Amino acid sequence: MRVNTFLVSLIAILTISSCGILTKENPEQEIIDELQNKFYFGTALNEYQLNGTDTIAVKVVKRYFNSVVAENVMKSEVIHPLENRYDFTESDKFIDFAQANNMYTVGHCLIWHSQCAPWFFVDSIGNQVTKDELINRIKEHVYTIVSRYKGKVNCWDVCNEIVDENGNYRNSKFYEILGTEYISLAFTVASEADPEAELLLNDYDMANPKKRAKYIEIVNMLRDKGIKISGIGMQSHTRITTDLTEWENSIIAFRLQGLDVHITELDLTVLPIPTELNSADVSMREEYKEEYNPYKNFLPDSIQKIFDAKYFKIFDIAAKNGVKRVTLWGVNDGWSWRNDWPIDGRTDYPLLFDRVYRPKPILYQIAKSYKNLK
Ligand code: GLA
Repeated sequence: MRVNTFLVSLIAILTISSCGILTKENPEQEIIDELQNKFYFGTALNEYQLNGTDTIAVKVVKRYFNSVVAENVMKSEVIHPLENRYDFTESDKFIDFAQANNMYTVGHCLIWHSQCAPWFFVDSIGNQVTKDELINRIKEHVYTIVSRYKGKVNCWDVCNEIVDENGNYRNSKFYEILGTEYISLAFTVASEADPEAELLLNDYDMANPKKRAKYIEIVNMLRDKGIKISGIGMQSHTRITTDLTEWENSIIAFRLQGLDVHITELDLTVLPIPTELNSADVSMREEYKEEYNPYKNFLPDSIQKIFDAKYFKIFDIAAKNGVKRVTLWGVNDGWSWRNDWPIDGRTDYPLLFDRVYRPKPILYQIAKSYKNLK
């Protein structure tokens, strides 16, 4: 966080306590209920929130959200750092928090080429694993994690980012060694480990018609084999300049296939990104230049208006098309990964709570609009 921590805490405490206890008589609660009646309204929790250090964020999460996902602690490099060693310390805290607060809980993510523990693809002497060995490792990894949280995780991101920008299978180690078999395998094992859990394919740039078509192909491939798939997670790392037409077309296309659609990682950057690609590839890096960090101290009204209109539209499309969940990728602007991707050290405003945890007025406008949208 880039602002003085003491000041942030003070303002946040004043903000939170001035809201009072939310009850049915409290109009703010009615507005939040309105939003949560439309879909699960979720946020991603980071380590500081799970450890209880960021106490204000925890209050905000309990008050405003009814769904959570772990931003990092269930990724394979954290939860399964060595072949014979799982580390559930942080993921257990996440699940305990979710259970204690009766949240719709999302497990993120089982199979992903990035933030993947390096041991996954090599044997003890450093050679690439055989096909059979990788199959065993995937089975063991997926089964162990899903069965540990059986009945507690409502929905899993089973495979993350398995298609590239051209609509081809991503050339990850999983694909290189196993072809599409790893996808079928991960879904099969996940549904054996917890038959009740919903199972998703999750990716960025889902407005891209090539990716949309490829995902429908993958869904059909799984269905033809009798393998359960519940829906599609559209990450939706969005820019204020993004046209939402194709994004809506993807939601409609997936819904027509009888799939649930989850907006899984929503954020809306106001900052310039020096590439045309609608990527959210975490490995993409660019050099810092002042011109790429134009709103260091505040967001001008003109940009705020564009931001508000875009957020309103995103939620409007989600509500009208029966989206099951909308999850924001983080609680407040100060903690968002967008401040440091693809360029370190910028000041972005991508979420619906500001740096001192105040809900942005547009959040209420969105929720209020649902009163007329039954
Ligand atoms: C992708 C992943 C997320 C997260 C974001 C960046 O979207 O799915 O887990 O790493 O990148 O924070």
